[in-house]
Amino acid sequence: MGSSSPTENINHNNQIQSKISEMKSKIKETESNTDLVENMINTISSKAKNDQNETKEKLNSIIKNTDTLIKSIHSLTPTTKKLNNDIEIPLIGLGTSRVKNVEEVVYHSIKDGVRLIDTALLYKNEEDIGKGIKRAIDDGIVKREELYIVDKLWIDDKRDPEKALREALKRLNLDYIDLYLDHWPCGNVHLKDKDYKTISIFELWPKMESLVDKGLTKSIGCSNYNVQSLLNLLSFCRIKPVVNQVEFHPYYYQKGLKDFCDKENIALMAYYTMARGNGARNYIKEHNGEMDIFKEKDIKHLAKEYDKTPGQIILNWHIHQGNIAIPSTSNLDRMKENLGALNFEMKDSDVEKLCKYGKKMKFCGCVRFFGYNIMA
Ligand SMILES: NC(=O)c1ccc[n+]([C@@H]2O[C@H](COP(=O)([O-])OP(=O)(O)OC[C@H]3O[C@@H](n4cnc5c(N)ncnc54)[C@H](OP(=O)(O)O)[C@@H]3O)[C@@H](O)[C@H]2O)c1
Repeated sequence: MGSSSPTENINHNNQIQSKISEMKSKIKETESNTDLVENMINTISSKAKNDQNETKEKLNSIIKNTDTLIKSIHSLTPTTKKLNNDIEIPLIGLGTSRVKNVEEVVYHSIKDGVRLIDTALLYKNEEDIGKGIKRAIDDGIVKREELYIVDKLWIDDKRDPEKALREALKRLNLDYIDLYLDHWPCGNVHLKDKDYKTISIFELWPKMESLVDKGLTKSIGCSNYNVQSLLNLLSFCRIKPVVNQVEFHPYYYQKGLKDFCDKENIALMAYYTMARGNGARNYIKEHNGEMDIFKEKDIKHLAKEYDKTPGQIILNWHIHQGNIAIPSTSNLDRMKENLGALNFEMKDSDVEKLCKYGKKMKFCGCVRFFGYNIMA
């Protein structure tokens, strides 16, 4: 191989130089493009961040507004109703028959917002209920006047309701109750004292009225009265009953009695509220799940539609028609669930769906006490 001439060498160098400058300019170009891309990425990501923050802020404000809206809807939903003596009564209370650990249940229910508690001599729990109430008052959760305590005159005590109520007040450790109900419209047919059996409403009611006069109870009412018993009472009473507490649920829809009570401005307090009281539970067990209201297609369908539990659907059904509901439970989560029945409103047409069973089944057996069906 021969050696290159100086001219050839110069040319070659020039070519290399030109290639180098071409590459340098390409590198510069790439560098500036990279800057550009980097800038673009920065701009995009800061915009995305801004957008994200803005979206977050918007979402937070929507959540806050929804919260305020829900709170104001709840505050508009009535939780009490006025009785015929102008005293307000909570729409949902705690029934206590067969409630286990009742002192704790009462204390925590009050803590969770329950204000009405229903008891009776028959339930043998007045002392424990009194302890739960006292604890709640002592802990500053509630004042006595914010509670609504219901007790009942048992069939053996009709001769002397004042003595019976004074003893009940001692057991409850209270100065007064809010409502005293005549538990059943009859005496105890099993007693030997024939006169006692036949004690009439004309003899009893003036004694009940005197309990209001003496401040031992704020109101008086009836329980298990049918239209005829109420008519007798209304024909002469000086103080009208404020409440009639009766079995009432979708399987025992006492429309006639309800219409009468509405007309006379007597509030209907529904027991066996969810058709799940003792008699109902026994029936369901003995008949392999038959007459279990929670299994009804309509209840299941409505629970899905309103995103509520079957219990809340039944309780809302009561409230919709102006009833006072006193479901019992030993389970505090269920108590909260039951109070949740106040926070929505079913359509009239849906309420109607649960009225269609009529008087399909009465679970509470009066025969057990009286030897015959006094509601017949
Ligand atoms: N005046 C009268 O002659 C008379 C007669 C009977 C009753 N009452 C009164 O009425 C109250 C209510 O009647 P009741 O207790 O017999 O019948 P109820 O309220 O229809 O049924 C109570 C039963 O339902 C269950 N329960 C409560 N909430 C529930 C929910 N959200 N979901 C599913 N199950 C639920 C409870 O079980 P868990 O405890 O397991 O939750 C309890 O065993 C009585 O406590 C009593 O104060 C009065």
